[in-house]
This record gives sequence, structure tokens and C-alpha cells, in this order.
Amino acid sequence: MNRRSIRVPDLKEKKARGEKIAALTVYDATMARLLDRSGIDVLLVGDSLGVVVLGYENTLAVTLDDMLHHTRAVARGSERALIVADMPFLSYQVSVAEAVRNAGRLLQEGAAAVKLEGGRPMLDVVKRLVDVGIPVVGHLGLQPQSVHQVGGYVRQATRPEEADALVTDAIALRDAGAFAVVLESIPEDVARAATASIDVPTIGIGAGPHCDGQILVSYDMLGLFDRFVPSFVQRYATLADTVTAATKAYVDDVHAGRYPQTKSVMGSEVI
Ligand code: KIV
Repeated sequence: MNRRSIRVPDLKEKKARGEKIAALTVYDATMARLLDRSGIDVLLVGDSLGVVVLGYENTLAVTLDDMLHHTRAVARGSERALIVADMPFLSYQVSVAEAVRNAGRLLQEGAAAVKLEGGRPMLDVVKRLVDVGIPVVGHLGLQPQSVHQVGGYVRQATRPEEADALVTDAIALRDAGAFAVVLESIPEDVARAATASIDVPTIGIGAGPHCDGQILVSYDMLGLFDRFVPSFVQRYATLADTVTAATKAYVDDVHAGRYPQTKSVMGSEVI
């Protein structure tokens, strides 16, 4: 039985009540525990894993096995937030049957839902997943798995016909059964129009304030990943500096013989 406090139907209810949804990506059990106890609503095991944890240039190299491994870890570390797992590149585009099998594996490892990129071309997959009981989050706007086709990480839906197409895609995803839609790197008026067009929540990343919720890559929000920082990211900490300074202090102590020191506690030697 699912004992988590935040469940799939809760997100739609939050939208109906006008309550904003806070989401972050996460990839391991320790961080999942910290974010979970801070009141986060949704934990996304994002395929951004490939860039911020595994060191790839983009998300294309991330495999289903990678996602299963990290979804398992996040499920072990968290108790209350809704866990959504990204379907990695090639795990849902080849056939509907493969998509069902792969999405099902992610649920078996502890996700409550999966997220996949794309609008109308993905409707057959979304419908089938929902039909067999696998909740789906859509993902429109900048779709990092299409980075080569788009020519980089560039803002989407900036022309009127692209904006219209995006709103049509959002409605189509909702009609196919998606229970939320991520909107990435689009103008805020387009995000506002999409948000007003559907009764399921939009979760924005670089899409302005009018979405029903916001998501960030936790490594960006915490200032851990500093190879590049998207312009829309607000850093709430600078953990890369903290880690570097702490590690430098440790290295200096070890090199200087200051660590470890033996201490005498109640007459016995402890290290
Ligand atoms: O993988 C990811 O990090 C995402 C974003 C929407 C945050 O899909």
C-alpha cells in the first residue's frame, strides 16, 4: 500500500485549490531524505542525472538501468513526497509495448509515476500507460532529449505558431490522461496560456511565475553543480563552495598532520 502523504490525485486538487506545487530533482537516498523532510511535494528522479551526477554532456547517454538504480535509492530515502521517474531516451520512443514495460519497471522500483518528453507524437504511449495504471507527467517546451534536433538548450515557443502548438500539445496530453505537464524554457505568457487551458497542474522550469508549480534541478538550486547555471535558476545555497572549502581544510589538516588526533576519553584510547 502507498503510505506516502502526496499522491497522484493530490496534485490536481492542489491546482483546484490554487496551491502551488514545489518540486525538485533528486538522485540518491541521502539527498532524498533531506529534501523530503523539508516539505517538498514532488521528487523527480530526473535524467538530468546524466549531466549533474554522471558527468555526461547531455541526457542522451542515460539508460533505463541508471534510472532504475537511482529511483530505487530515492524511494529508500524518502517517505512523503510523490516520486516521479524520468523515462530516459529510447525507453519509450521505439514502441508502446517497450514503453509500458520500461515504465512499469520504474514503478516496481518505487516511482509512483513516470515523466516523458513530447506532445502529440507521444499520445499513443501516454494513453496506453494511463490505461494500464501508470500515471504520466508530460514535458513540453525545451525537451533536452531532442537537444541535437533543436540545436542546443534554447528557449522554445517564442513564435506565435509555436506557442499555439504548445498549448494544443498541453491540452492533448491532458486529454490523453497526463496528470501534470512540465513546461521548460518557454515565455511566461505561453506558460500562462497553457496553465489556463488545462485542469491538471503545469510545473514550470524557466517558464515564469504563472505555472501551478515550479521545479528546479536540485544541484542547481543548491549551488552544487557549477559547470554552467541556467539564467532562470535561483540559487538558495552555494554548496560547491562549501564542499571545496571543507575538503581543502581536510586536505590541509591531513598534509600537516593535524588530523587525525588521538584523544583520551575516560581513560581509554579512542580514535
Ligand atoms: O531531468 C530533469 O532534471 C528534468 C527537469 C524538468 C528538471 O526533466
